[in-house]
Amino acid sequence: MTTRRLVLTRSAAVVGAASAGLLLPGIVRAQSNRVRVGFMLPYTGTYAQLGVNIENGVRMAINEKGGKLGGREIEWFKVDDESEPSKGVENAQRLVQRDKVDVLIGTVHSGVQMGIQRVARESGVLSLIPNAGAHAATRGLCAPNVFRTSFTNSQPTLALGKPMVDKGLKKAVWITWKYAAGDEAFEGFKQSYTKAGGTIVKELGLPFPNVEFQALLTEIASLNPDAVACFFAGGGAAKFIRDYAAAGLKDKIPLWGSGFLTEGVLDAAGAAADGIMTTMHYADSLDTPRNNQFRKAFATTFKLQPDVYAVQGYDTGLLLAQGMEAVKGDIGNKQALYKALENQTIDSPRGKWTMSKAHNPIQDIYLRRVENKDNKVIGIAAKALADSGAGCKMAGA
Ligand code: PHB
Repeated sequence: MTTRRLVLTRSAAVVGAASAGLLLPGIVRAQSNRVRVGFMLPYTGTYAQLGVNIENGVRMAINEKGGKLGGREIEWFKVDDESEPSKGVENAQRLVQRDKVDVLIGTVHSGVQMGIQRVARESGVLSLIPNAGAHAATRGLCAPNVFRTSFTNSQPTLALGKPMVDKGLKKAVWITWKYAAGDEAFEGFKQSYTKAGGTIVKELGLPFPNVEFQALLTEIASLNPDAVACFFAGGGAAKFIRDYAAAGLKDKIPLWGSGFLTEGVLDAAGAAADGIMTTMHYADSLDTPRNNQFRKAFATTFKLQPDVYAVQGYDTGLLLAQGMEAVKGDIGNKQALYKALENQTIDSPRGKWTMSKAHNPIQDIYLRRVENKDNKVIGIAAKALADSGAGCKMAGA
């Protein structure tokens, strides 16, 4: 080895020693004291905007609390899950094993959530679900370290059937993407609609995230039901609304849905969305000081209008900040942390909510109507609705 090479090697060793904490223990300790928070969200594809609004919401809530968690600085990590279920486990492992996150915040798509759930149950990492409504996550596969701040897929649609029948709409066609979110939304719709006296004349579906609606819209026109009810979300929902109107159905067959249909898409859908009726745990026009203040701050900070996804992200940030405050940043004190997370009341823009025993929000579901690019509140369709948590074997659930 030449002298020069030796010098370089030695200096590399010095740098290595420094970064390993041998020479600068103070700096390294400060870094390792940070809480490692990982986002696993869709940043591409039909749910991309949902991922962005969730992340913005989380950051806004934590910034409002001083930008720290229980007094500790935060180190952020990010993975684009592409709403691709086949990569769910691998993407979650990247955050847990490679990045060694203390908290995994994700995701939007129910199929991808099942991958996160497996990794969360195996590793014990704290998992906060800011959207995906997969029943199993807070039912049969519930876990002490998994908390949902959003909904179960059947929660909004359990409030959908009765107002439809009350309006005299007694024969409906159901249409959705065929995967867990659509199928479980259908469960809630079927239960509430048939109980109220309605009849489902046909169930229609197409694979996620397909948006070739034409043949199905032609079939709806020939079935000529009293109403159509559906689950769609994100970019695909905007296209469904536009195609429904373009097919001439808008003024003939009223369109109803799980409220995601009209979240974050009203600019893109324009007048085609007017009159759509939905049920959801949030509404833009909730006229409370809390919601008004939130909407103003979000729009000012991100130059984007908040929607239900932003609210769910915001509530995830609040829950995490409040839980970490309760344990003074000691995220390793799992028993105390989980107890604190279970016992929080979240002062959300949607209205105050608490956790069910299976770790899912107990919340009001609003009936809404689209008017001039706004989800206007018509009333409360279900008060303090809790998911059944069926099959959750966790102690206390
Ligand atoms: C889901 O896959 O669970 C899902 C996705 C988007 C939504 C709601 C639920 O808006």
